[in-house]
Amino acid sequence: MANTAFSVEGRKALVTGGASGIGATTAGILRDLGADVVLSDVNADGLDSRSAELGNCPTFLCDVSDEPQVEGMVKAAAAALGGLDIVVNSAGLVDEVKYALERDMEPWQRVMDVNFKGTLQVCRAAARIMVPQKRGAIVNVASVNGPGGWPRRTAYGPSKAAVIAVTKELACEWGEHGVRVNAVGPGYIATPMVQGLIDVGKVDTERLSNRTPLGRLGTPEEVGQSIAFLASDWASYISGETLFVDGGWMAYGGAGDVKTF
Ligand SMILES: NC(=O)c1ccc[n+]([C@@H]2O[C@H](COP(=O)([O-])OP(=O)(O)OC[C@H]3O[C@@H](n4cnc5c(N)ncnc54)[C@H](O)[C@@H]3O)[C@@H](O)[C@H]2O)c1
Repeated sequence: MANTAFSVEGRKALVTGGASGIGATTAGILRDLGADVVLSDVNADGLDSRSAELGNCPTFLCDVSDEPQVEGMVKAAAAALGGLDIVVNSAGLVDEVKYALERDMEPWQRVMDVNFKGTLQVCRAAARIMVPQKRGAIVNVASVNGPGGWPRRTAYGPSKAAVIAVTKELACEWGEHGVRVNAVGPGYIATPMVQGLIDVGKVDTERLSNRTPLGRLGTPEEVGQSIAFLASDWASYISGETLFVDGGWMAYGGAGDVKTF
């Protein structure tokens, strides 16, 4: 008999990147669906204000690129929650937007360390709890820039391609222990990250909308709902998957404007 009640009622959920954008919104959605939620981020002020909005949920300052910090944070989060059922890896950085031949490798390494290594490190720390308990759902946040090539994003795109790849690896390793690992691949979503790029002229909203079959940018809520689905029992037979939440971006292979090509 089908499970007709979509819910994460009573689940214990940790959201990284929870101070802003997709992470902050996802935490609210999980909470509204009945989960107990804690937030982690490097942004202390952002954590405080989002926690206040969510009824003073516990927060943990942590740079996901630093493994000892991650190990301590995940243990502390699980202790505060009284368990760990769901982890959402939304912490992430944008790229410098420089050509490969002109960029420095230090900022390149930083993007890889936060977006890829950070995601893997949080997955590992979570699995140390989830594998022995034989239960858990992890949702990583990748991007359409993982499978797609963008000029001047030689760190961001590869970091997200690696997130998609490692999501599959970990799903294969931990599936027998009842731990599912999936990802979402957002297109362009109206978050502070993208607003920052719009403000400095590195993103043109109109061109992006014209390139997107649904004709607009996405909202953090639309990504958060897909994350909640993948974290819930409704996705109980889905693992290793990346669900693109992109308004059809990945489906379009034309010459630049959906309406004319
Ligand atoms: N907004 C989009 O269009 C879009 C598209 C595809 C993928 N994504 C991905 O979605 C995720 C969330 O992005 P967003 O748009 O909500 O951006 P955002 O900037 O609003 O949120 C990202 C959060 O990650 C935190 N963070 C950054 N470095 C960190 C670190 N080292 N350790 C812990 N936390 C750190 C930031 O402080 C911030 O709160 C990112 O992984 C991003 O790459 C976003």
